[in-house]
Amino acid sequence: MTWRFALVIEPAASDDPRHDFAGTFTVIDASAPALTVGELSTQRGDGVFESIGVVDGHAQEVAAHLERLTHSAALCDLPVPHLEQWRQAVAVAAAACGPGEAVIKLILSRGIEHGPTPTAWVIAAPAADNTSARERGVRVVTLDRGYGIDTPSRAPWLLLGAKTLSYAVNMAAIREAKRRGADDAVFVSSDGFVLEGPTSSVILRRGDVFVTPTPGAGILHGTTQLSLFDELERRGFQTAYEDVPVAALREADAAWLVSSVRLAVPVVAVDGEPLPFDPPFTGSLNAYLLSPRD
Ligand SMILES: Cc1ncc(COP(=O)(O)O)c(C=O)c1O
Repeated sequence: MTWRFALVIEPAASDDPRHDFAGTFTVIDASAPALTVGELSTQRGDGVFESIGVVDGHAQEVAAHLERLTHSAALCDLPVPHLEQWRQAVAVAAAACGPGEAVIKLILSRGIEHGPTPTAWVIAAPAADNTSARERGVRVVTLDRGYGIDTPSRAPWLLLGAKTLSYAVNMAAIREAKRRGADDAVFVSSDGFVLEGPTSSVILRRGDVFVTPTPGAGILHGTTQLSLFDELERRGFQTAYEDVPVAALREADAAWLVSSVRLAVPVVAVDGEPLPFDPPFTGSLNAYLLSPRD
């Protein structure tokens, strides 16, 4: 992916009374080096981020993403982000996106070692073409995440509910899935419950009920899942947050990996066993996800 637009933000204190934050933004050359070698985001993955989907210049679900950025920052003891400042930075980046699908990333890093403030920046680029995954689906394998469903509440320092920059484990899981002949992974707890994909939430269908694993401290609360549940309820379906045993995924009437940029991708096989999928219904979910959403 070639980043087309980059903006460095001087992070404002959360109670900064200004209304206009344009003076705190510096547009930089997205292809030129920008971070100093002492950056803790690069040395330790010490920071948090968000990826926002953009459709024809409209950034989707910005408030929900900023809420999760704030939650992740709190879990990591980072300063509280100034929501209006970030909202304006997203608007500037969205205006640079042009037609079609794009992605805006927000990054809040702990900054330079012993430095006075965090480092923050926003980048934007055209999104990869996800048509094939949306239409043909993905084969997943379940991978043990190595902890029980109650571990996150006993060990909050594992930061399992924060969207931190440390995605090396998530990327390793996708490589492992590919080694096993699949396209993507679904993390499961060591006591056998479905958690999430390495870059997505899991939704499964049981008749007219749509279920997702309870977003406790162990998984991210997906903005796409939240938005889809609202839409499914508008269409008259029931939705539920549950502890989902792995067997329930294998026996589901359908399942999807959902996320802000890839959107709703049907799961067509779990651990080599086929799962039913319904292309027109998935198409209708993606048509909704591609419509302007706030
Ligand atoms: C680990 C993980 N879970 C869930 C999600 C889905 O979140 P969202 O729908 O807000 O993109 C993501 C998105 O990247 C993710 O990385």
